[in-house]
Amino acid sequence: MSSWASRLGLKLGALYEVVVTTSGVDGKPHAAAMGVRLLKRGLFQMRSYGETRTLTNLRATGLGCLNIVRSCEVFFNCLFNPEALSFDSSSVAPRLKGADGWVFFKVLSVEPRGGYYVVTCSPTDFEFRRVKPKPICRAESSLLEALIHSTRLDLYRSMGDEKLNELYKLIEHHIGIVERTGWPELKSMARRLASHIGLS
Ligand SMILES: Cc1cc2nc3c(=O)[nH]c(=O)nc-3n(C[C@H](O)[C@H](O)[C@H](O)COP(=O)(O)O)c2cc1C
Repeated sequence: MSSWASRLGLKLGALYEVVVTTSGVDGKPHAAAMGVRLLKRGLFQMRSYGETRTLTNLRATGLGCLNIVRSCEVFFNCLFNPEALSFDSSSVAPRLKGADGWVFFKVLSVEPRGGYYVVTCSPTDFEFRRVKPKPICRAESSLLEALIHSTRLDLYRSMGDEKLNELYKLIEHHIGIVERTGWPELKSMARRLASHIGLS
């Protein structure tokens, strides 16, 4: 396994949630939550569901950065509070300030597959910070689930009421877990999400 992936203890085949930072041809930095899957030889792939801004930027510049973050708040901010994100633009691609690690990469290929695009990438450089141990709190995974599901609402809306209701129920379930097991800031993000999607 490549040095960046083994340093992080990544498992082949698993999907990891990271923040992908890119810049447009205008140089404006952009951050989006994305799942990435490790392949052999240190390569990795992500899927862009539709023509995302990230995909447009990756096509235009061929460069990006995986930002390894542990706080759900960063994923929340990517979707609902992008002004709270700050970037360091001194490298080949912008990176998120405050992340635990950064993997810069170049795009090897972009292939359309039905409703999504598979982007295959090769790391060019990486840097990791020393971080404290972090015990698991279920609220964070549930907030993450709720955030991911919320980005699929538009797609499900086009599939009819039954599908849409199923998705709302799932989001409600996860917000319930955040309410039971989370700390105040996490609950506040869950409530903002609920109100944003018309659940409360
Ligand atoms: C944790 C998390 C993971 C996500 N993973 C993906 C993904 O793998 N592919 C994707 O297209 N969108 C994914 N999304 C949704 C995008 O982050 C979101 O729709 C984004 O606004 C679209 O990207 P853009 O800002 O580059 O247009 C994810 C969202 C969250 C919260």
